[in-house]
Amino acid sequence: MTTSNSKKSTQSADVNESVGMTNLTGQLDAVNKVMAVIEFELDGTIIAANENFCNAVGYRLDEIQGQHHRIFCEASYTSSPEYKAFWDKLGRGQFEAGEYKRITKSGDEIWINASYNPIFDENGKPYKVVKFASDVTEQVKFRRKAGVMIPVVENAPTNIILADSDLNITYVNPATVNALKPLAHLLPVALDQVVGSNIDIFHKDPSYQRKILSNPKNLPHQAFIELGDEILDLLVSGIYDEEGEYVGPMVTWELVTEKRQKEHEAAEKSSMVENAPVNIIMHWCRAPSSKWTASSLIGSCCCCRRLSRSTRCKTVVPVNRLNKTRCTQSQLTVRSTHRAPWSRRAIRSKCWSASASMVSC
Ligand code: HEM
Repeated sequence: MTTSNSKKSTQSADVNESVGMTNLTGQLDAVNKVMAVIEFELDGTIIAANENFCNAVGYRLDEIQGQHHRIFCEASYTSSPEYKAFWDKLGRGQFEAGEYKRITKSGDEIWINASYNPIFDENGKPYKVVKFASDVTEQVKFRRKAGVMIPVVENAPTNIILADSDLNITYVNPATVNALKPLAHLLPVALDQVVGSNIDIFHKDPSYQRKILSNPKNLPHQAFIELGDEILDLLVSGIYDEEGEYVGPMVTWELVTEKRQKEHEAAEKSSMVENAPVNIIMHWCRAPSSKWTASSLIGSCCCCRRLSRSTRCKTVVPVNRLNKTRCTQSQLTVRSTHRAPWSRRAIRSKCWSASASMVSC
């Protein structure tokens, strides 16, 4: 009975181990498909590399096997104490990760996001290093280009948001952070997570924004948008690299809730005046006495142009719709000064139809 039990438990351990191995192999296959993987001796000698790695650096496997890691680095780095310290650390079994600059076979610069993982034997002694890497050259290039602009936009009083071609927000300037603070409760993410978020999360129907932004010919694009009860004036422009390639959008924006409210109120007042059943003079606009420039103000008003020949007729008055309809060719009428040679009756005969009365003049 005991022997049979022990046999059974050995079998189940074997099965577990085999499942574990299958699982592990599956995971390694998955990693191999998407990542660049390379194995080193503890001193940096290359043991093996997968296809992704070879493609990224432009070497065939047989060209790099047995070579030292330094073939992927600039000489100024490999001769530095930092480079020696890097391999010493790995040799002691310590893990390293970060963003590294490397050089391809053709001498081009490549940036990788990589982890260097020491592998230990059954006695806990490190015996090799496996490196998993992904190519982040494009992101680094974008950041560098943005980096040139950053000192400029950092202190700009304008609110600026930059995104890359995948529409991930890469930068917000301090003015934006300050302006977003009172709106933080309206955002789907915390303020400090705006950078790194995709712009889609801010939009109800992201396909709409994506369609606009997919074609730089649509830019610049201006819109007033609503965020909660607030109104934002948004201007989206394209960012272009030195080859003229569109590399992403830039948003400059302003909170205009109060401004729009005031404009709205003014428009309402104006509409009340416009539609008032009595003649109302809106305001006086005094033209220079010696040189009459009112023609620019009075546009196509034939009556006023006639009067404008005189330097004595100085005051141009926008009038409400009721007046306009009476003086059909004019959007403005003219008030003579006390010195005007025309009597009210004369002006009336010039400016107005016979039936009109010059209530305001
Ligand atoms: C670089 C980053 C961004 C870009 C390029 C962008 C672009 C756009 C565009 C093109 C529109 C359409 C405007 C129209 O109606 O014609 C829009 C609308 C809108 N955006 Fe953004 N946006 C960005 C970031 C943000 C952020 C950070 C927020 C949140 C604070 C935001 C909130 C909104 C809202 C509320 C609308 C109104 C329509 C909607 O909800 O979809 N956007 N954006």
